[in-house]
Amino acid sequence: MSFQLIAYTWLAIAVIVHFTMFRVTAPFGRHTTDSWGPTMDNRLAWFVMESPSLLIMAYFLFFGKNSFESYAWVLFMLWIGHYVNRTLIYPLRIKPTPKRMPVVIAASAVCFNLVNAGLNGYYLAELAPVEKYGSAWLASPQFWLGGLLFVVGLYINLRSDHILIHLRKPGETGYKLPQGFLFKYVASPNLFGEIVEWSGFALMAWNLPALTFMVWTLANLVPRAKNHYDWNLKNIPGYPKERKVVFPFLY
Ligand SMILES: NC(=O)c1ccc[n+]([C@@H]2O[C@H](COP(=O)([O-])OP(=O)(O)OC[C@H]3O[C@@H](n4cnc5c(N)ncnc54)[C@H](OP(=O)(O)O)[C@@H]3O)[C@@H](O)[C@H]2O)c1
Repeated sequence: MSFQLIAYTWLAIAVIVHFTMFRVTAPFGRHTTDSWGPTMDNRLAWFVMESPSLLIMAYFLFFGKNSFESYAWVLFMLWIGHYVNRTLIYPLRIKPTPKRMPVVIAASAVCFNLVNAGLNGYYLAELAPVEKYGSAWLASPQFWLGGLLFVVGLYINLRSDHILIHLRKPGETGYKLPQGFLFKYVASPNLFGEIVEWSGFALMAWNLPALTFMVWTLANLVPRAKNHYDWNLKNIPGYPKERKVVFPFLY
């Protein structure tokens, strides 16, 4: 199977998953149930789920054919920076709760990360023409605009996660009304930030695997944000209905 065919097939699967996720809520965090089979520790699950993305990109950066022959290493560093947080720092920051992650969810996230990091790492290190990420690329509006979006998205994601994580005092496990920053406008600014981040990455990288990852991020996070929003309305007293789901002023 050619690389392109794998990437397009993966893209098509994202569309199917997107529509499925509006009907079937992924059972972790506030949506946890014990009806999805064996479960594992929540923080360990985050570490296990996200590790493949970090390790695969680090592997292609250091052992790939062309990673340091051009400025493709800049893209690797952005990806790796994001996943150092998600794999190593985020699981230590979230407050311990009795909620556990179904193993099947962790396993599906491992597959998601294996394919996305595999496609992106392999393309950047082995397939991309060296000229594509040369000095003209560094000077292009696409590089700077995409880079700006990535950094702004990362900031929104980190700051929103920080606000959410600090809503609970030590020992608390319930849910409170998040206020301030972009919570004035949307239920899940952390997911919005993540979408902006990977849209910026796709603009910078301008290749099929990066586009595929952006589509997968949208496919996963828009329905997850809708699931969060519906849950919040039902379960958090006084939750403001006028907040949008994930895109300020739009949806
Ligand atoms: N790239 C992708 O496809 C992808 C997919 C999934 C997640 N992510 C990223 O992973 C991160 C976590 O995602 P998520 O959907 O699990 O986020 P989330 O539901 O917003 O939860 C983030 C953290 O804040 C806590 N929290 C949320 N709302 C709260 C409230 N009202 N009161 C008290 N505590 C609250 C959660 O506790 P509980 O766990 O106890 O609910 C959790 O520890 C996000 O940054 C997201 O962008 C990325």
